[in-house]
Amino acid sequence: MTLDNIQSRLPDSRWRVQLLEEVTSTNTLLKELGRQGAPHGTVLIADRQTGGRGRLGRTFFSPGGVGMYFSALIRPDCAPGELMHLTCAVAVAMCDAVEQAFGFRPQIKWTNDLVVGKRKLGGILTELSLDRQQVGFAVIGVGINCNQLELDFDESIRPMACSARMILGERVERSVLAAEMVKSLEAMDLSDREAMLRRYRSDCMTLGQRVSIHRGEEIRHATALDIDSEGGLVVRCDSGDIATVTSGEVSVRGLYGYL
Ligand code: BTN
Repeated sequence: MTLDNIQSRLPDSRWRVQLLEEVTSTNTLLKELGRQGAPHGTVLIADRQTGGRGRLGRTFFSPGGVGMYFSALIRPDCAPGELMHLTCAVAVAMCDAVEQAFGFRPQIKWTNDLVVGKRKLGGILTELSLDRQQVGFAVIGVGINCNQLELDFDESIRPMACSARMILGERVERSVLAAEMVKSLEAMDLSDREAMLRRYRSDCMTLGQRVSIHRGEEIRHATALDIDSEGGLVVRCDSGDIATVTSGEVSVRGLYGYL
């Protein structure tokens, strides 16, 4: 992956890409740049991260040379409540990007995991910075496994992880993916929420599945029915209640493990 190889694929883009060798976390660094005034469309990509972060305070293992560690800063002009669906929009955009770059389309495990078969290909961590009740900026962080082989993954996640290389049987060019990710995010239309949610529902493998909902120590079993207009997961609990789960502090799993 080189900056030239990425930029040569983006002749019409107004976004500005920087490629770094090593950072703690592209999201952490870009949030700092955002506070210093970095403009809409600033993109940071790193070859490796020493402190990659996932949702719910988890670590995102980010070894050098094999993964895509990507963050983009956007400055939408709206209230935070209007952005509840941002992670959903990003997930659909990332399915488009992987499909354009590598020729296969991942599915989405609600809310923010990209999966192929029963394994995780990547994840999304969106972070908002507020300024007087408005969204000052949002940092969209995306990690995608590209050239890992099965044994490259830590034993603890090995049965649940996959990479583009494992799916295609050959190494992939990360610059191609990076450019498609920029194109998809730059083209993302947050104003047409219903159209985006239709696409999200069609990519979301969680719908129709039996799920367990983990909130702290509490676990509830349910069937996933729908995605609501805020991107929440509508479920029928085994008690018969219909409930909507929001992504915040909750993790949703299939009954038999990750999916
Ligand atoms: C998850 O799976 O919970 C989300 C993972 C998000 C990882 C990406 S890698 C680039 C960016 N920098 C980070 O520290 N995290 C995101």
